[in-house]
Amino acid sequence: MHTDRPLPLLGGLAPAQFMSRHWQRKPLLIRQAVADMRALVPRARLLELAGEEHVESRLVVQEPGGRWRLQHGPFARRALPPRNRPGWTLLVQGMDLHDAAVHRLMGQFRFVPEARLDDVMISYATDGGGVGPHFDSYDVFLLQAEGRRRWRIGRQHDLSLQPDVPLKILAHFEAEEEWVLEPGDMLYLPPRWAHDGIAEGECQTYSIGFRSPARGELARELLQRIAEDAPDEAGEALYRDPRQAATETPAAVPAEMLRFAREAVATALRDPQLLDRALGEYLSEPKPNVWFEPPDQPLPLGALQLDARTRMLYDERHVYINGESWRAAGRDARLMRRLADRRGLAAREVAGASEDARALLMSWCEAGWVHTTDETP
Ligand code: SIN
Ligand code: CO
Repeated sequence: MHTDRPLPLLGGLAPAQFMSRHWQRKPLLIRQAVADMRALVPRARLLELAGEEHVESRLVVQEPGGRWRLQHGPFARRALPPRNRPGWTLLVQGMDLHDAAVHRLMGQFRFVPEARLDDVMISYATDGGGVGPHFDSYDVFLLQAEGRRRWRIGRQHDLSLQPDVPLKILAHFEAEEEWVLEPGDMLYLPPRWAHDGIAEGECQTYSIGFRSPARGELARELLQRIAEDAPDEAGEALYRDPRQAATETPAAVPAEMLRFAREAVATALRDPQLLDRALGEYLSEPKPNVWFEPPDQPLPLGALQLDARTRMLYDERHVYINGESWRAAGRDARLMRRLADRRGLAAREVAGASEDARALLMSWCEAGWVHTTDETP
C-alpha cells in the first residue's frame, strides 16, 4: 500500500497523514469513505451465523421501561426478537473470518500494522437500537453499511458507569458532536472517546476494531513462552555454595541462592531472540475459536494466497504463522515477508523459491493455512 497516496477511505487523507493527525489522537468523520456501500453479508446470513457455536455473538435489548438486557450467543432464530420490534441489536464478532468480502474490506485498513488489527464486528439493529453511551479501550472505525445511524460523541471526563446494568453504560454522557451516518459514511474514534449510536430505522454498522495488548497480559504471555525454552538457554549449572557458613537461622533464604536465581532468570531473558520469538508467536496465534480445514487433495504449488484466518507476521530474523516460528534469511526471508505483507504470492515468485521454502509452503497448504489460487495478488 502506498502510504502517501490520498484515499477516499480516509476522506482524501493519505494513510501517512491520517496516522500522524488522527490515529490515537482525534476523531474523524468521513462522508462516503466507501462508495456504493451496501451490506456485504445479507441479514439472513448474519442471523444464521449468530446461531453457530464457533461464532461469537451478543444480543442487546432495551426493554420497554428502559432496562437493558445482554445475552451471549449462539442464538437460535426464534431466540431473537422479531424484526418489527424496535430497540434491539445483534453484534457478531470476527466477521472477517467468516466472510470473504468482509475480509477484503478489512484489508483496506492494513496501513495499520497487522499486529494491531483485531476484527470486523457487524451490528444489526432495529429502529432505536444501540448499545448505549459508552467508551472503548481501543481505536475503532465505525462504517455504516446499511440504513442510518445517529452518532453522538464526546471527550467525556466523567467515566462513571450506570450501576446494575449488564453493559458498560456511561452514567452522565455528554455529547459534543452529532451526525447521522448514511451507508458508506465512516467515523474513526480513538480509544476512550465516548460514543452513542442509535439506529434510525433498521441498520447495519461495521466496526473495524484493533487490539492493544495490556502490559501485564503481555508480560505473562511472553514469560510463559520463554519459560518453556528457559532450561536450555540458562544451562544446567547447579547451585553451589562452598562458602556457606554454618547458620543459626536455617529458615532464612541464603542471599547467594537469591543471587543465583536472579542470574538464572536474567540469563534466560538475556537472549533477545527468545523474547522476539515469543512475541511473534503470541501475536500470530489464531483466535481460540479458529480452526483450519486441510484440503482433501493439496494442489501442486502455484500462485498462493493466505487463508483469511491465517495470521502471518515477521521480524528481522523470523517468520511467524499461526503461532509457529521459523528462522529465515536471504532470498527466502524476502519471499516469506512478501507473502506476509501482501497475503499472497504470484506463481513465478513461488517457482523461484528454494527447495526448503517450497517444502514449507507446501506444508502450510496441507495444513489449510495457505491456498493455491488463480488470482494474482
Ligand atoms: C454498534 O455497532 O452497535 C456498536 C459499536 C460501538 O459502539 O463500538
Ligand atoms: Co463502542
